[in-house]
Amino acid sequence: MTILKILQYPEASLLQPSGPVEITDGKIDDKIRTLIKDMGETMFQAPGVGLAAPQIGINKRIIVYDAMAEGSEEENPDKKFKALVNPEIIKKSGSIVSENEACLSVPDFKSNVKRFESVTVKGENAEGEKLEFNVEGIFAIIMQHEIDHLDGILFFERVSSLKRRMYKKRIAKKLKESEK
Ligand code: NI
Repeated sequence: MTILKILQYPEASLLQPSGPVEITDGKIDDKIRTLIKDMGETMFQAPGVGLAAPQIGINKRIIVYDAMAEGSEEENPDKKFKALVNPEIIKKSGSIVSENEACLSVPDFKSNVKRFESVTVKGENAEGEKLEFNVEGIFAIIMQHEIDHLDGILFFERVSSLKRRMYKKRIAKKLKESEK
């Protein structure tokens, strides 16, 4: 079991698009599978309900999420998580407000974010099997948030520019002070 370091804004890996994971003959290589396991453990330890590979400094299109994200912590004692490799949103509809959305890579910032209510996602699981499914509510929000990470987009890019500017300023100031 390896707990990985979760990087924070303005780390470069968070701000650039990630490349696809190569799948040969429907198989995902062992290195990636180990990485997925470590990402799951890291996510639960944080704790969070989703984690994308760029958040641990790896610019590959991999996300993991809490399989029981809609319930309480007690409802997922085995810490079951799901992984998606090369996920893609192929359909989206409706509109909801994700209340007080947060991100492990954007500390001390929460905001309501407008999201699609329902999304259809296509990708592969950790075994390299092709999947296509529709999710709503919290899982739709997780998909949009985590897949954004794979495109180098942090959730504050989806809130009012004033809020975002204030946050970036606050972080810049903090970094400057820590250099002193
Ligand atoms: Ni995030």
